[in-house]
Amino acid sequence: MTKIIYVQPDSTRVTVDAAPGDSVMSAALAGDVDGITAECGGNMMCATCHVHVEESLADRLPAMCDDEDQMLACTAAPRTATSRLSCRLPVTDALDGTVVTVPGDPS
Ligand code: FES
Repeated sequence: MTKIIYVQPDSTRVTVDAAPGDSVMSAALAGDVDGITAECGGNMMCATCHVHVEESLADRLPAMCDDEDQMLACTAAPRTATSRLSCRLPVTDALDGTVVTVPGDPS
C-alpha cells in the first residue's frame, strides 16, 4: 500500500492507504477526506478535486495536460504554482508518504 497524507485547511492530517490503480482523488474519497468531493467522478470537469502538491513531487507526477491546466482556472480556492487536480494523479509506489494539501474554502 501507498500512504497518501492529506493536510486539511486546519492542518489536520489524514493518512489514507492507497493502491496502484487508485488516483489521489479516489483514495481521498475512499478515506472520507474532507474538501475533495470530486463531483465529476474524475472526468476533469469539476475541479472539486483540487489539491496543492509538494514542489519536490514534480518529477514523480505526470505532466499537466492542457485540459487540466484549463480546469484549474475554475477552482474554488485560488490556484497556486503547486495546484493539481488529484484525479489526474495516479497512485504509484513512488508516491508513498506523499503529502498533499486540501485548499480551504475561500469564503
Ligand atoms: Fe472532477 Fe477531478 S474529479 S476534475
